[in-house]
Amino acid sequence: MSESTTDVARDQLAQAAIAGINHRMMVGLGTGRAATRAIRALADRIRNGGLAHIKAVATSNASADLARELGIEVVEMRDTLTVDVLFDGADEFDDEMRMIKGGGGAMTREKIVAYAARRTVYLVQHTKRAERLGDSFRVPVEVLDFALGVLTSRFEWLGLDPRMRLDDKAQPIRTDNGNLILDLAMPADPDTNPGDRNAMDPEMFRAALNTMPGIVDHGLFLDEADEIIIEDENGDLSRLVRQKS
Ligand code: 5RP
Repeated sequence: MSESTTDVARDQLAQAAIAGINHRMMVGLGTGRAATRAIRALADRIRNGGLAHIKAVATSNASADLARELGIEVVEMRDTLTVDVLFDGADEFDDEMRMIKGGGGAMTREKIVAYAARRTVYLVQHTKRAERLGDSFRVPVEVLDFALGVLTSRFEWLGLDPRMRLDDKAQPIRTDNGNLILDLAMPADPDTNPGDRNAMDPEMFRAALNTMPGIVDHGLFLDEADEIIIEDENGDLSRLVRQKS
């Protein structure tokens, strides 16, 4: 076993992410550090002969490139009807399995692949657990250039303090779809701010964002997770699992 193969085999979070993957499955590959660990574990399992005839769709160009480099067969999402299992990371989660995603700007593709997936697994560090969603992470919104002016002014009016996502040269970051990202503050909690006309809980906020033209999609993932696997500081795992009604 090479050193990197040993490391991958010892990576409990990554191994847990791929545990439910069987031969011939279509796998959704998430974006970010946690997803990258799972992509490496998947490639390792394929290389070692533990999984055969695996195909994958990727939630970002970066994950597609990495997966192909590692020998995973990546196909186009536009030609794909369903995905057997998606693994991905998240930026924040709460006890109700609601999440904020899009730290890597890939939330639109991540949501599309989650929508296509029969089962979704999210991989997070325990430090990402939030008492209230939005405590330490803004909600990213992917917007069409055409709608930038009207959406910015509407977000300001709603007290959401929109901030254009910039790179280290202060240039606007473009998503893989060619659009801009505005990072928004989470609105005040209506339970604790009954007099605040702009207060919204995450579901109300999602509903509001979903009605605004020019938003391609956003980073509120409130129902998408079937399972969240949480890694603590020692590498030990715990899980939140959605009860199916
Ligand atoms: C990218 C994402 C990522 O999944 C999220 O940012 C978590 O990344 P990491 O595992 O690197 O902390 O939503 O758009």
